[in-house]
Amino acid sequence: MDIKLKEIQQDYLNKIKTAKNLKDLDEIFLSLFGKNGEVTLLPKQFSQLDKEQLKKLGPLFNQVKQELEKVIGNRRQAIREESYKALENEEFTLPPLRWEAKQRTGHTHPLTAFEQHTAKIFNKLGFVQIDAPLIDTDYNNFEVLNIPENHPARDLWDTLYINSNLKTQNSKLLLRTHTSNSQIRALSQNKPPIRLMNIGRCFRYENVDARHEHTFEQFEIIYVDKGVSMANLQYLSEYFLKSIFGEDIKVRLKPKYYPFVEPGVGVDGLCIFCKGKGCRVCGGIGWLELAGAGMIHPNVLRAGDIDPKEYSGIAWGFGPARMAMIKYGIEDIRLFNSGELAFLEKF
Ligand code: PHE
Repeated sequence: MDIKLKEIQQDYLNKIKTAKNLKDLDEIFLSLFGKNGEVTLLPKQFSQLDKEQLKKLGPLFNQVKQELEKVIGNRRQAIREESYKALENEEFTLPPLRWEAKQRTGHTHPLTAFEQHTAKIFNKLGFVQIDAPLIDTDYNNFEVLNIPENHPARDLWDTLYINSNLKTQNSKLLLRTHTSNSQIRALSQNKPPIRLMNIGRCFRYENVDARHEHTFEQFEIIYVDKGVSMANLQYLSEYFLKSIFGEDIKVRLKPKYYPFVEPGVGVDGLCIFCKGKGCRVCGGIGWLELAGAGMIHPNVLRAGDIDPKEYSGIAWGFGPARMAMIKYGIEDIRLFNSGELAFLEKF
């Protein structure tokens, strides 16, 4: 049996030496040490040997086994090193990566760009941005704005309430329906003169169509000081619409009801498409309603700890998406949140 062992040793040492790659070596390893490998099966025949023979063969078997394992390991290492050397001498040129071949630069979302632009316009007049939460209390979004529960004016805002059992300061929670929830914060946390703006997401339980989204942006400014009047409101409206649509745009204020302003107005711009003649976009009216505004209601000022006898203020808000649609001729509001590259890349 020791002759058989020597034969295996000799035969495999040669095979290992001439193995060209790792795959050959793996096969050699398996035919020696695999389930039916020659070295694996050999001990099965040991039972035929007597004690003396076993004493001699046992250590020899172990020695051959370890030697073969070691030589395979060394050859494996040598093959690896040879292949690294071969690679070192090779010249590499990588194929162009796909994104490199079709390079694209990203840019700000058109709505964000429009909002940043608007923020700059008002910043020039001294307005500073503040935050207001997107999830707010019924109190901040409605009640403090003169819209008590069950008041018919609530129908103006299709509200998404959060689980009706959840309350903060004993007021139901909702997704804010407008940026006007920033008003009470602006008033109660600051002393006049106040010039603040709030930009951000609002949510309504809307039937989504080309002009209505359930998730949309609003932009609101709050201006409180001594002697602020409707003249300031007219000026701010003109200043803003001229900065967006150019000097030619005409602006008019028409009466409109919002419970938290008195008087309340709709801010109309002369239709930029038909210049007042009446067309499909303006519904034949010649004017487009672009913003809602008014003099802050005395109740709201008082709730913010500001004396309406001493101070007066303006609240003024609009939807950036609607404004951008008119400015850029976008027909469907849903495109803004669609993630469609074909649309986004036009800007
Ligand atoms: N918050 C009103 C809306 O969502 C708009 C508005 C803002 C009206 C400020 C008056 C003053 O419709």
